[in-house]
Amino acid sequence: MNTFLIKGDLCFSEDPYHIRLCPDSYLLCRDGLCKGIFPQIPEQYKDLPLKDYSGKMIIPGMSDLHVHAPQFSYRGLGMDMELLDWLNTYTFPEESKYTDLDYADLAYQQFVDALRRSTTTRASVFATVHNPATELLMEKMEASGLISCVGKVNMDRNCPDYIREKSAAASVAATEEWICHVKDRFRNTKPILTPRFIPTCTDELIKGLRTLVEKYHVPVQSHLSENFGEIAWVKELCPGAKNYGDAYDRFGLFGGDHPCIMAHCVHSDAEEQALMKKNGVFIAHSPLSNTNIASGVAPISAYIKGGLEVGLASDVAGGDSENLLHSIVGAIRASKLRWRLLDQEVKPLSVDEAFYIATLGGGRFFGQVGSFLEGYEFDAVVLDDSTIVHPQELSLRARLERSLYLADDRHIMAKFVKGNQLF
Ligand code: GUN
Ligand code: FE
Repeated sequence: MNTFLIKGDLCFSEDPYHIRLCPDSYLLCRDGLCKGIFPQIPEQYKDLPLKDYSGKMIIPGMSDLHVHAPQFSYRGLGMDMELLDWLNTYTFPEESKYTDLDYADLAYQQFVDALRRSTTTRASVFATVHNPATELLMEKMEASGLISCVGKVNMDRNCPDYIREKSAAASVAATEEWICHVKDRFRNTKPILTPRFIPTCTDELIKGLRTLVEKYHVPVQSHLSENFGEIAWVKELCPGAKNYGDAYDRFGLFGGDHPCIMAHCVHSDAEEQALMKKNGVFIAHSPLSNTNIASGVAPISAYIKGGLEVGLASDVAGGDSENLLHSIVGAIRASKLRWRLLDQEVKPLSVDEAFYIATLGGGRFFGQVGSFLEGYEFDAVVLDDSTIVHPQELSLRARLERSLYLADDRHIMAKFVKGNQLF
């Protein structure tokens, strides 16, 4: 069932600096894996089923390395605030509603439906502190056909009573119970430890979560060096930490022996960057969020050049849209302003680099994902760009570039995750 040929105009990253174009070509998908690209159907494959998307573009599915499912309900609100005020005014009151499973059912279904329709095929998702609603979200993610990690959030300080877990021990115990419920329950939806960020997590909580990494081999996701006020606060809260990253690392929650995603990394200094590189920490670049709530602009081309792991993220609802095409454009625009106004040493992102972080860069978190190179899992989106009108002839490269800027869900005519067709 997962073995077929698919025909169309193939566009995919080979590395951060090169998008390979294979117009009017056939890709062999065998058991969900990419197994070669051919200009004509090879004799030995002529009896395989053919999915013919001639004239359409086929691109790898995208990985959203950081998105808050419960925040989808208020995307576009409070975008005149900075992080800490925005959390107190919008985020914490909204996230507290997920004690109500009827509300969670409605809100999470809207989120999952939107993600399913988008270019995203993989995601690393924050839920809330609530176990039952988080399990409900995982059921919905599994039913969507997408592949994801989902995290029950931990926070035991510096947030309102109505959403704060009662103690570090209670938070760790609830997390262990949740992991045991879900770890073997789904094929495509896995648990990820999710301490919200250092300001809302005591040292005791971070240490307790480390025991769960050791016991269950689960990955970790959190926020890092997003906003100046937040960073100053972490310095006060953790006088013994060398930097914000070290506040996680000193208790073993910053990659190295486990997969780890840190969102933002806008203001990481050289030492923090070196630690991320050493530990293989994935940076979830969230340009829409970083511009909306005025956090700043991360030096992404320098991170890529330096060999750090970088993926793209919507960070809904700091980011106003789950559509990663918008984040690609946002990443390029923000990098240009950074270069123009702040630092000519760090080059603006090229289209090739922005496309790379959305596909192969973030896909690496999930394995061999995000490209059509041999052996990669076949995650793909078929784009019909014929309604984006133009009077002149356009190369495939030009069609791809303008689709990144101009396409939306209406142009997606098919989607595949590990060879399974979702629609
Ligand atoms: N830092 C801690 N929590 C959050 C959140 O929900 N969104 C963003 N953008 N940053 C955070
Ligand atoms: Fe976030």
